[in-house]
Amino acid sequence: MTLHEHRFAGCTVIVTGAGSGIGLATATRLAMEECRVIAVDVSAGRLHDLTSEVEGDIVPITADITDDASIATVMSTVGERVDGLANVAGIMDGFEPTADIADATWDRVLAVNVTAMMRLTRAVLPVMLERGRGSIVNVGSEAGLRGSAAGTPYTTSKHAVNGLTLSTAFFYTPRGVRCNAVAPGPVATNIEAPFRSEWGQTRIGPFLQTNVPGVARPEQLASAITWLLSDDASNVSGAIIPVDGGWAAI
Ligand SMILES: NC(=O)c1ccc[n+]([C@@H]2O[C@H](COP(=O)([O-])OP(=O)(O)OC[C@H]3O[C@@H](n4cnc5c(N)ncnc54)[C@H](O)[C@@H]3O)[C@@H](O)[C@H]2O)c1
Repeated sequence: MTLHEHRFAGCTVIVTGAGSGIGLATATRLAMEECRVIAVDVSAGRLHDLTSEVEGDIVPITADITDDASIATVMSTVGERVDGLANVAGIMDGFEPTADIADATWDRVLAVNVTAMMRLTRAVLPVMLERGRGSIVNVGSEAGLRGSAAGTPYTTSKHAVNGLTLSTAFFYTPRGVRCNAVAPGPVATNIEAPFRSEWGQTRIGPFLQTNVPGVARPEQLASAITWLLSDDASNVSGAIIPVDGGWAAI
């Protein structure tokens, strides 16, 4: 049995949403573990704070991941080796039930949470397959495990993340690329989650107040994400792991 004391020395890992919350904690943890981190975020200011405050080999890329040109920039920066991809960037909806969905909300939530995740995964796979090695970790949500944690657009998007995770794991695990997801419960981050529907608030509000365990720290998610990225999880693929303080058990 090999003890992995330096889990990410010599590795390159892409982290989206690296400027805040779970992505920031993941990028920080990776940099502390000697990883070259390709840190992607739409906010230049947040990436500036990351590179100013965290020591290590961090390459910031200011980009909107829904933009195809951004994905090309990420891939040209990565070069010929990428060991991991942490698809963390995501946005919430306004707790809208189906009848109250605005097209713009639906389109943006699906574009960021699902389509961009697929496109970046699609771009990274050939590089990983060339080496027969890689680990992809998608950030899903408790909303991907039930119908009572968010509005319909976000719930739909996070169930799609689970499908993308399972299908990618099915096709590529035999060729050395693992794909897994974490499903967080509430985490103390900058994500915005306003109630934009009266019925949404009436219906979901009581569930969130009574059924949800405490709010996690982003570092608690980074711990699970980096474990899945690392060789410590070498026999884990196609798993959707609740990291939610026990909410999934309720
Ligand atoms: N915070 C929670 O309670 C919670 C719960 C379950 C799941 N999640 C999921 O965790 C992930 C991270 O969320 P967080 O809570 O850390 O949020 P956050 O808002 O603190 O961080 C998300 C980061 O992603 C960036 N981002 C958003 N859209 C982007 C885009 N199009 N291109 C590039 N960067 C973009 C933002 O600028 C931000 O810095 C999301 O996928 C979210 O759905 C969060």
